[in-house]
Amino acid sequence: MKVAVLGAAGGIGQALALLLKLNLPQGSEMALYDVAPVTPGVAKDLSHIPTSVQVTGFGGNDPAQVIQNADVVLISAGVARKPGMDRADLFNINAGIIKSLIEQVAKNAPTACIGVITNPVNTTVAIAAEVLKKAGVYNKNKLFGITTLDTIRAEEFIADLKGLKAEDLCVNVIGGHSGTTILPLLSQVQGVEFSTQEITDLTDRIQNAGTEVVLAKAGSGSATLSMARAACLFGVNLVKALSGKQGIIQNAYVDGGNKAAVFFSQPLLLGLNGIERVLPEGSLSDFEKEKKQAMLETLTADIKLGIEFANQ
Ligand SMILES: NC(=O)c1ccc[n+]([C@@H]2O[C@H](COP(=O)([O-])OP(=O)(O)OC[C@H]3O[C@@H](n4cnc5c(N)ncnc54)[C@H](O)[C@@H]3O)[C@@H](O)[C@H]2O)c1
Repeated sequence: MKVAVLGAAGGIGQALALLLKLNLPQGSEMALYDVAPVTPGVAKDLSHIPTSVQVTGFGGNDPAQVIQNADVVLISAGVARKPGMDRADLFNINAGIIKSLIEQVAKNAPTACIGVITNPVNTTVAIAAEVLKKAGVYNKNKLFGITTLDTIRAEEFIADLKGLKAEDLCVNVIGGHSGTTILPLLSQVQGVEFSTQEITDLTDRIQNAGTEVVLAKAGSGSATLSMARAACLFGVNLVKALSGKQGIIQNAYVDGGNKAAVFFSQPLLLGLNGIERVLPEGSLSDFEKEKKQAMLETLTADIKLGIEFANQ
């Protein structure tokens, strides 16, 4: 399997590349691309770590060689959020970057699975879909907005609150990937009871966890290390599923036929061709039904913005 990381010299990209070097299946190939000229150096640095994952890296303006024949393309290229910005503020810069990189993927690896990290994910995934459609290579089973960070945050915050181990928890986080569009289904968490206040507080914390990091980093960026962990988890699971491992379930933001919105995050059974089956989101409490309804206006507007941008 060949995994390409685009934006590989950035805060997320470098940490993600390190984790992939350590965690991809033996014999995998990893190709790094970033406009930053340091990128071959990042690859050289990683290549001194003794695992059997082969690493190459290219900086500059032409990602074709890195993307060529990739099975999985993970994209974190773009600018990160600063205090006072929300993910939608990133739109103007990141939308153009995603559009041009996806055009390159359509040309050089038209059957690759694509994982979009670049925010605002609610919108950048819609842009990617439109670009792939225009190129005649859109496969909705192979395009993912990576929302795994919401899942690992939810698991960690619950574990922390209740004195449990995060790895023993499984939280189904549905919807989109910004603010109120992130909806953790706490009513489905097995073996844990929450008070009404805990549900309100935890939901709010999970929805705004990105801002916690942005404020704590005080102007120097957004979540990078936890995001890299999340993207590695998703990427490695995807590679394993594409290689034939069965029973892998991950949530991601996809065009999966959800009645709520064209793109929606929910559990997916991954397989040889990307999404094998979109799994039901399960039953929701009244609180969650209300929150789901309330998110739809924002989510639909985010998606519309992406479709319009790609077609302008
Ligand atoms: N999905 C999530 O959960 C999540 C979480 C945190 C951050 N993010 C997003 O991920 C993105 C990257 O964040 P970061 O902290 O790594 O930012 P960063 O600024 O540290 O890194 C971004 C990298 O992208 C590169 N880049 C810019 N334009 C490029 C292009 N056209 N082609 C290739 N590379 C290009 C830059 O040179 C830089 O190295 C941001 O959009 C951020 O908002 C997503």
